[in-house]
Amino acid sequence: MELEQAMMGRRSIRGYKSDPVPRELLEEIIALAGRAPSSMNTQPWHFHVLTGEPLERVRQGNSEKMLAGVPPQREISDHGSYEGVHRERQVEIAKQLFAAMGIAREDKEMRQDWVMRGFRQFDAPVSIVVTFDKSAGMHGTIAHFDLGAVTHGLVLAAWNRGLGTVINGQGIMQSPVVREVAQIPDDQVIMTCVALGWPNEDFPANTVQSTRRPVAETTRFIGFPE
Ligand SMILES: Cc1cc2nc3c(=O)[nH]c(=O)nc-3n(C[C@H](O)[C@H](O)[C@H](O)COP(=O)(O)O)c2cc1C
Repeated sequence: MELEQAMMGRRSIRGYKSDPVPRELLEEIIALAGRAPSSMNTQPWHFHVLTGEPLERVRQGNSEKMLAGVPPQREISDHGSYEGVHRERQVEIAKQLFAAMGIAREDKEMRQDWVMRGFRQFDAPVSIVVTFDKSAGMHGTIAHFDLGAVTHGLVLAAWNRGLGTVINGQGIMQSPVVREVAQIPDDQVIMTCVALGWPNEDFPANTVQSTRRPVAETTRFIGFPE
């Protein structure tokens, strides 16, 4: 039951208190996440947990480069522009977030401010950079699946302890900055990062509940009685 509550209640958190998160708590969460299944139990994941001054340097370097128009430098192939139903869903969540924040469609300044917050990982006190072994990735994309599984476990374990998270590509758009500051070893590939901290209950976007497609739309049953 607890698991169902966490899965139903979790949502991305984009406003945080500045209170620090104890290292022991982070270790617990990462240990739980590490129970995720992986292809042939390869566990190709690594976690680089940043806070304080190094995290500030990542925020600054990432933001400066994005503002200067440096094209994103990701280490996995990017999704590019979404189209069709995927674009529609992207627009829907953006509209929900902007409505909660009171950001009008024509308010370019506030929209830009929101995007910049994303590049700063919403000023969360902790960022967990998730990487995988380059050698595991060489055998195809299975390592990506493994990292998705472990990262979902991570955000649920955090939520279960009252901590908010947002998985975000924005914070590592300029991956060379993260690589340098966090001294990520050359034999690892940066997949994503997870901003984490205690949710600011007064931050309007934190109340947004994103929609989901119904089972009848996502699923086919084959061989079952009608
Ligand atoms: C791979 C991945 C990348 C994401 N990148 C971002 C991001 O850069 N910025 C952001 O605000 N949210 C990001 N998100 C969060 C999604 O927008 C969010 O999970 C989705 O809208 C569903 O909302 P929910 O997490 O509240 O259920 C990302 C999520 C995933 C899984």
